[in-house]
Amino acid sequence: TISTTDYRGIYHFSPKEKWMNDPNGMVFFKGEYHLFYQHHPFGTTWGPMHWGHAVTKDLVTWEELPVALAPDEHGMIFSGSAVVDWNNTSGFFDDEPGLVAIFTHHQEVPNDHPIQRQSLAYSKNSGRTWMKYEGNPVLEHESFVDFRDPKVFWHEQTKEWIMIIACGQTVCLYHSPDLKDWTLGSEFGAGIGSHDGVWECPDLFPLAVDGDASQEKWVMLVSIGADPAFKEGSRTQYFTGDFNGITFVPDEASHTVRWFDHGRDNYAGVSWSDIPAEDGRRLFMGWMSNWMYANQTPTEGYRGAMTIARELTLEKRDAEVLLVQRPARELEQARTAVLSLQNASIRQVSEQLNTLRLVNYEIYAEWASDQSVQFALRSGSDNETLIGVDASQNEVYVDRSRSGISDFHEHFLGRHAAGLKAVDGNQHVRIYVDYSSVEVFANDGQAVITDLIYPDEGSKGISVQSENKDLVFASLHIYELSPIRA
Ligand code: FRU
Repeated sequence: TISTTDYRGIYHFSPKEKWMNDPNGMVFFKGEYHLFYQHHPFGTTWGPMHWGHAVTKDLVTWEELPVALAPDEHGMIFSGSAVVDWNNTSGFFDDEPGLVAIFTHHQEVPNDHPIQRQSLAYSKNSGRTWMKYEGNPVLEHESFVDFRDPKVFWHEQTKEWIMIIACGQTVCLYHSPDLKDWTLGSEFGAGIGSHDGVWECPDLFPLAVDGDASQEKWVMLVSIGADPAFKEGSRTQYFTGDFNGITFVPDEASHTVRWFDHGRDNYAGVSWSDIPAEDGRRLFMGWMSNWMYANQTPTEGYRGAMTIARELTLEKRDAEVLLVQRPARELEQARTAVLSLQNASIRQVSEQLNTLRLVNYEIYAEWASDQSVQFALRSGSDNETLIGVDASQNEVYVDRSRSGISDFHEHFLGRHAAGLKAVDGNQHVRIYVDYSSVEVFANDGQAVITDLIYPDEGSKGISVQSENKDLVFASLHIYELSPIRA
């Protein structure tokens, strides 16, 4: 049966119309979180890239604004970042600080490789209108064909801007006093990490390990493009290490590949710039799709969604420093309590769940760590999405094999698992469900699985199962989630 919904998430961002891929230029300025994004305003598949624009004050409720950047004589507007130029290092501003976007100009060349060069645009009115810098492009490379997705941040210790940018299958680290003149500091990535595809959309930022500022580590995110040889499609890895303004030195743990998300649909994500120091969070959002099938997903009128906003932290678990993701706390304001049980038997929980019909919600469940539990969500006569913990394998999983429409790609179906590291004697699983997605945060954000699903409209059931008929949930909460009304 064909769904009559358009699969638009109710608390996830999607453009009102047409195509979206990567988040770009995420920056906080004057009370607004900006999201720019790779956008094709004239089609529902990838095409001439523009920067679309939306803002939010609460990380849940979005206001879409007119297209911010359109292709010009240097080509399409590919991915990049935005910063607040607080000290007017660029000289673009008069009395008040404003926004500078640093992005890739992608120029097609007949019968040859396209050219990718870095350019600037600036805005004096909170991103509502932009001027392209007349000196564009500001950075090119003599040999890299893939040279794109600059992420820029201010480095206080060296008092310079740092740019991390994807260069084929490595990243390059440049520095600049004014965002216009860039000097290559170092290159990182040869012989380390995953090289299953071209490297894209890198990010680099410091985090205090377990909140202890004396134990700061740098985190590098690197997205890896889809290669037909790998049925996982596009995905994101991360490294931890040290950075001195020039060189990134990876920790030992980074020598094995560390996946950022164990689902299929969290790509090209980066962190927000200029979150005020008194807030101090490192906030992240990714594109909730996969290049393997992004152009074929069964939505109508628009295509593409972002993940929920997430907070990133570094935490020591079993002597290993891990990158942990948690839903941004603003999501709590989107809740309406539906069910709240403590020390409830699985029979009692099952009876309650059987009465519910829900599409957009959060479910939190906690139970003894040696017990396996499986939820069936968005279930109906033909569909169900299975999410559970297999205690014998010590893993959390999403199985979307029967989740709904899947015929648009042969590798869409499947089960995706992530290893768990115990936090205490309990399993803790937090799941966000929306019209076409599930996001699972297990063990308090240690293992994350983000997956798209396309169930029938009527598939709203929830049920739970365990081999242990005496299983007790220490707690089980369900909240319906809706956009926050001011
Ligand atoms: C990542 C990416 C980027 C590029 C953009 C083009 O998804 O391939 O490397 O800048 O998308 O839309």
